[in-house]
Amino acid sequence: MASIKLEQLTKRFGKVVAVNNLNLEVKDGEFIALLGPSGCGKTTTLLMIAGIYRPTQGKIYFDDVLVNDVAPKDRYVGLVFQSYALYPHMKVYDNIAFPLKLAKVPRKEIDRKVYEVAKLTKIEELLDRMPGQLSGGQQQRVALCRALVKEPEILLLDEPLSNLDARLRIETRAEIKRLQRELGITTILVTHDQVEALTMSERVAVMHAGVLQQYGPPDELYDRPRNLFVASFIGDPPMNLIPVELERTDGRLRLVADSFVLPLAEEWENMLGQIPEASFTLGVRPEDVRISTEEKANALLGEVFLTEPLGGGTLVHFMFGEISFRVLASREIKMDVGDKFWLVPDQSKLHIFTKDGLSVREVGRRDAQ
Ligand SMILES: Nc1ncnc2c1ncn2[C@@H]1O[C@H](COP(=O)(O)OP(=O)(O)O)[C@@H](O)[C@H]1O
Ligand SMILES: [Mg+2]
Repeated sequence: MASIKLEQLTKRFGKVVAVNNLNLEVKDGEFIALLGPSGCGKTTTLLMIAGIYRPTQGKIYFDDVLVNDVAPKDRYVGLVFQSYALYPHMKVYDNIAFPLKLAKVPRKEIDRKVYEVAKLTKIEELLDRMPGQLSGGQQQRVALCRALVKEPEILLLDEPLSNLDARLRIETRAEIKRLQRELGITTILVTHDQVEALTMSERVAVMHAGVLQQYGPPDELYDRPRNLFVASFIGDPPMNLIPVELERTDGRLRLVADSFVLPLAEEWENMLGQIPEASFTLGVRPEDVRISTEEKANALLGEVFLTEPLGGGTLVHFMFGEISFRVLASREIKMDVGDKFWLVPDQSKLHIFTKDGLSVREVGRRDAQ
């Protein structure tokens, strides 16, 4: 087992800066995710940790030992890719045993280790089959076994579930999490799927265009996104993001856009009072809005434009002029197009971002330091 520390890690391919000055620490035995859209530098980061790519700049430490010049095979890292890359002409057993044979491990020991990992991932019955005779989920388990059989100190998973169908993905998600807990192996999962990242890992590092946006436990990213990118990337259905102007009327603050007018609770006075600008982006998660038929304080009067049943609840679209505002409503509330309701966003769960896309809470915190 090992901890990982990335220090000012940068990788350029010609003019492309794939990873830009990345600082990241992973604790011994921790499970973290690198989350971000395609092309944001996740795989490049993983391949630098594995030693396959050399960083253009920066340092990689395992347990405080600099490993920049350590060869991949001496890093004790297990890698699993989206494409399982199994050898099609070899039985499952031989696929798993292959790295040990390369390392000239004695036959008996190979046997013991292969059975051990096969048992761990519940594929003992498949050892005599050819990869072509396996389902996608089974192939992924074999790939995982092949990475684990070397008893690596670090496990790197690059979009390991992307090729599985939705149901199998949920199963395998839980399976990998259980396995990681059982082995206590330091693990980095690369994924573009927020649900995967949030459900599987202890901490999530959100990346965008090669730059780390925020690193923290899933709840923290969800409750306190530090910038607009994280706010828009995390959450399903996504957060409502509305460009607004801050106005002061009769000593009270309101956020205004078109016919959308939201009075702010007093708690926002301090945070917004310190910022000289007047243009902001308001963020409201669809699940953080209460719906009422009676007039309430700090509420908006909205008209139902469209309803989408989601099974557990209903996603209701309200229109304020050009502005669409989505609210997650319980199924019990009957709503028809054209009905009017008072919408009460939970003021403690509002997100307000500056022109630079930084959360106003973050600006306050930085000034306090
Ligand atoms: N070998 C390479 N040569 C040139 N550009 C690359 C190479 N690998 C990745 N890139 C570029 O670096 C950026 C990050 O890629 P990658 O790390 O694969 O992203 P992700 O895994 O997040 O989808 C992309 O713009 C990609 O086109
Ligand atoms: Mg990738």
